[in-house]
Amino acid sequence: MTDAASVEGVPLAELDVISPAGFAARGYPHAAWARLRREAPIHWNTKHVLNPFWAVTKHADIVWISKQPELFQNAPRLAVIPGLNPTGVTASADAAPEDNTFARHLLNMDPPEHAAYRKLVSHRFTPRGLARMTRDIETIASDLLDAMAGDGGEQTGDFVERLSAPLPLNVLAELLGVPRTMWPEMFRWTNQIAGATDPEYQRAGEDPGATADRARNALFQYFAQLAIERRQHPGDDLVSAIANAKLAGEPLPIFEMLSYYFLLVVAGNETTRNAMTGGLLALIEHPDEWRKLQANPALVESAVEEIVRWTTPVIQFCRTPKRDVEVRGTKIRAGENLCLLYPSANRDEDVFDDPFAFRVDRSPNRHLAFGIGEHFCLGANLARLELRVVFRHLAQRLASIELAGPVERLQSSFLGGIKRMPIRWRLRP
Ligand code: HEM
Repeated sequence: MTDAASVEGVPLAELDVISPAGFAARGYPHAAWARLRREAPIHWNTKHVLNPFWAVTKHADIVWISKQPELFQNAPRLAVIPGLNPTGVTASADAAPEDNTFARHLLNMDPPEHAAYRKLVSHRFTPRGLARMTRDIETIASDLLDAMAGDGGEQTGDFVERLSAPLPLNVLAELLGVPRTMWPEMFRWTNQIAGATDPEYQRAGEDPGATADRARNALFQYFAQLAIERRQHPGDDLVSAIANAKLAGEPLPIFEMLSYYFLLVVAGNETTRNAMTGGLLALIEHPDEWRKLQANPALVESAVEEIVRWTTPVIQFCRTPKRDVEVRGTKIRAGENLCLLYPSANRDEDVFDDPFAFRVDRSPNRHLAFGIGEHFCLGANLARLELRVVFRHLAQRLASIELAGPVERLQSSFLGGIKRMPIRWRLRP
């Protein structure tokens, strides 16, 4: 994290609000965002992008905008991704997710279409709809943790590889009805799509757009085949549900159907992975809070909310007003993009008591890590379930834990990712 002194005196236009390289090197630019909250909560940003945008840093403004989906639309610009320019899109260097030829799913649909598509699967993501997943998640978590425990002696390894990546992937595979053998492939696709701006996931000569395109095409191809199979032999899984869904009596158009799978795979795994990794890191860095949770595992629910607030894995989504409008006294013209910076909202001094303190028993905790309003995260209940299972097990079984090397962050302006986190641990078998 940048410290306050490093941004004092820097002209607002020069602040690093969104650069992927900045995130990789220093983590979230909280000091810059805090200055914007104080001095320019709706700030026109032209740095690091070809398409300028309004940086929205206050909690109240993000809530107000998100709750008016008729006026502030998700199309045409989904998020600010500097440098991502997929094949065939030449309008601007951060055009990819704004372009509906890349994918068309809930996150770039608006009312009334959005609600119709969301309703097709939303009942599966309610606490009731997920009840039968609880046992599966327990089993998946126990298996991975048993493998980590070994004989109970000291072990070293990468937490991402051993637990936080495979767990959400296995859960998703289960939910979608994708054979578990496919999870390494799903791992690669999501890294390449969500991490397209990180050179590690690009092939030689590829730009981020080409990387994202390649992975999207492979994912589409796999799911197109699976959907055909599940139309012939439907199961009780999400792939079958979407393959056989009807809107106004018609099956979903193929592009929208494949985009639905794409969204669930991408939205459901890197986010939860990074909350899990960042959550463990926060507990390692705040040993008093870790001891508090170990002494009282009943705190796991509030601890998970605090972990999600603290890490805020999704950095931003955009909204674009249909007509001229004022936000906090600033005139925004129709078609200009507002970038909602969730991690900034989650450190807003007007909403959170001592926002830069990590407290496993924080209450209230009205964080916006899952967004709010029309597009509120469909998978929030699932993510919470996974995180509670993992941190309850860790609180009960971890005998010791420490970092064993530097944390490597994803080069991205969209996901606060941790690629690798070497740790040394002892887990009770
Ligand atoms: C800690 C983990 C997660 C975080 C931080 C997160 C965050 C978010 C955010 C910020 C949004 C946009 C909300 C808005 O615009 O108001 C969103 C939407 C969404 N998320 Fe999540 N998410 C997580 C896990 C999941 C999981 C496990 C799934 C399920 C497979 C999922 C599926 C979705 C979907 C489908 C949407 C689009 C909803 C819509 O547009 O109606 N997410 N998520």
